[in-house]
Amino acid sequence: MIQQTLSIIKPDAVKQRIIGEIIKRLENNKIEIIGMKMLKLTREQAEGFYAVHKGKPFFETLVEFMISGKIVVMVLQGEDVIARYRTIMGATDYRKAAPGTLRAEFATGLTENVVHGSDATETAVQEINYFFKPEELVK
Ligand code: RTP
Ligand code: MG
Repeated sequence: MIQQTLSIIKPDAVKQRIIGEIIKRLENNKIEIIGMKMLKLTREQAEGFYAVHKGKPFFETLVEFMISGKIVVMVLQGEDVIARYRTIMGATDYRKAAPGTLRAEFATGLTENVVHGSDATETAVQEINYFFKPEELVK
């Protein structure tokens, strides 16, 4: 099934200058980019995006991290892209991420884990709508 998913290149990855490396892996895997923008999130935007994690012990740290620098948000499209992109990302805990995944290679902490990817079709739709208007997607 052709799906769409939201990808975020997080502040730690932008600072490591691996935007190009991440995009290269998407293209190598025949994942199409149909929306892309660079943002510096406000606290309100970051809290809203991660509202599902509100109240968890890592919430404040996560929000501080996500507003600590520029990010790149992208809408990705392709066959089974939600799961395929999460495979490319690797496990949330980089110490458990499979060798060769983005998080195994570039994450430096449990918070600083390089990339975000939606985890299901419903959250993908919500997350895409959070950052993109329909007319900003180029198919
Ligand atoms: P993401 O939403 O960013 O794609 O990551 P994920 O699904 O793999 O992980 P999730 O459970 O949704 O957690 C969101 C982000 O919160 C940070 N985190 N820190 N210190 C911690 O124990 C901890 N746990 C999660 C990470 O940045 C994680 O990606
Ligand atoms: Mg998540």
